[in-house]
Amino acid sequence: MNSIRVGILTVSDSCSAGTVTDTAGPELKTLVEQGLGQVAKTAIVPDNAQDIRRHLVSWSDGGLVDVILTTGGTGFGQRDVTPEATTSIVERTAPGLIHSMLAGSLAVTPLAALSRPAAGTRANTVIVNLPGSKKAVRECFGFLEPVLRHAVDLVLDRKGQVKSTHNQLQGLNNIPSHSCPHSSGNHNKEVTGGVGVA
Ligand code: MTE
Repeated sequence: MNSIRVGILTVSDSCSAGTVTDTAGPELKTLVEQGLGQVAKTAIVPDNAQDIRRHLVSWSDGGLVDVILTTGGTGFGQRDVTPEATTSIVERTAPGLIHSMLAGSLAVTPLAALSRPAAGTRANTVIVNLPGSKKAVRECFGFLEPVLRHAVDLVLDRKGQVKSTHNQLQGLNNIPSHSCPHSSGNHNKEVTGGVGVA
């Protein structure tokens, strides 16, 4: 299996100034190295669109990483500009990654609605914004990880890997079986406690 090269960009005024220790970036690094791949680039920048863009563009256009995960600057604060900086440099948006991350996150906390992440591709790199706390990156990475490898295979046109994943899906290996009891005549009948009443 090909190893995925990941860049981690921490976006935070206070971490960048050294007044607060970055815990989300190192947490992401640990998570990536537990299975997805290797961390090829890390940086900490202030909540400044120009600094964010410069890193995203140089890492993706330079072919240095396959995936960039940013952490921080996705909220409603006046200085939170990570999504705007990201949207301004991606060539194709990836709303499905955001939907997946937000759907999972909202099941954990209603405060997930206060994150405004963006995602997309530039050159051969998949870029995704994550929120800024250690807890949030752990949760969000968990929602993204199952699809990131396949996203990278598609972007890099790794035909063998793409075919193998598609074959697995066609074989329904990863999809829970459908158990709606149409044939037993239970459809549209009252349901109590999650079990159809005959
Ligand atoms: N998403 C998950 N999964 N878990 C969290 O704890 N925190 C939320 C939200 N998304 C959270 C989350 C909170 S409290 C905020 S303010 C926003 O992310 C924005 O965070 P950011 O500005 O650090 O990017």
